[in-house]
Amino acid sequence: MAFLLLSAYLLLTPAQAAPVENGTLVVETLTSQALLGNKSEHYLAQVRPPGTSRQIPQTIIIGVRKGGTRALLEMLDVHPNIVVAATEVHFFDWEENYVKGIDWYRSLMPLSYENQITIEKTPGYFTSPQAPERIHDMNSSIKLLLILRDPTERVISDYTQVYYNRLENHKPVQPFEDVVIKNGVLNTKYKAIQRSLYDVHMGRWLKYFHLDQIHIVDGNTLIRDPLPELQKVERFLNLPSKILSSNFYFNQTKGFYCIRSDGRERCLHESKGRPHPVVNSTVLEQLYSYFREHNERFYRMINHSFDWH
Ligand code: A3P
Repeated sequence: MAFLLLSAYLLLTPAQAAPVENGTLVVETLTSQALLGNKSEHYLAQVRPPGTSRQIPQTIIIGVRKGGTRALLEMLDVHPNIVVAATEVHFFDWEENYVKGIDWYRSLMPLSYENQITIEKTPGYFTSPQAPERIHDMNSSIKLLLILRDPTERVISDYTQVYYNRLENHKPVQPFEDVVIKNGVLNTKYKAIQRSLYDVHMGRWLKYFHLDQIHIVDGNTLIRDPLPELQKVERFLNLPSKILSSNFYFNQTKGFYCIRSDGRERCLHESKGRPHPVVNSTVLEQLYSYFREHNERFYRMINHSFDWH
């Protein structure tokens, strides 16, 4: 049944025929959504129930890559007043998509009722030089969600994802330490390190948006105890408090919280929450100390601090 729905969906929506997330096909997300609530079934079947339309997102999860963006989106999707785009859209950060225009962007959004808000997530927006201005041009009063985690952990998570992608594509892989240290010093040109310079990226967003338009979700807390972080998002979005502790259960095998909604239970895809390599402690210290100053600057920018290393 799920396969038939999925096939119909792919046939009917060529623009989204290759949903990918961080280079990984996310058909599993669509399949589980096909089996989920009415919201997603309408979307897949492409039947437009009376009173629904496709809306430009009123909220965007702008990043950060490996911050927990998928978990945040899927957990928010539990809320009856929220509908979410199933795949990463990459409208504001990929030139070839941006030139297709706003109607193309809207066409990728799910159907929603008037009392629902639409959310898309593309983690690449946070580090994209163009995204802040483009999103501001579209809607200068938009509310943005940014989920962050300890910058060193984020680098290791980023490396782990690329490591598995390379293994799957039969490409050679290197130990973490060899990628991060070059000629005895920290390789600050490594993209994964640059993506964790939150102060640098945030500076670009604050040129276009007020701080109170950007709600920062603590990705480390979302892993340990999702509900309070989600309740903060409900308040930020002025939504009634509808997400409950019963919407989550801890799955011992996965080692993460999974989602219970519309009478069904599901965990995130296996590519989310993979074990990380054990990193040499000297290299870890080098990373902590490199990020420390950037973190301090970031805390000052947002008037809030985190317990990152
Ligand atoms: P790891 O796979 O390195 O542990 P993103 O969706 O932005 O790519 O982020 C992926 C990260 O989300 C995972 O990184 C994981 O730590 C985190 N995460 C948060 N809550 C999760 C959950 N309930 N299930 C799985 N992963 C979760």
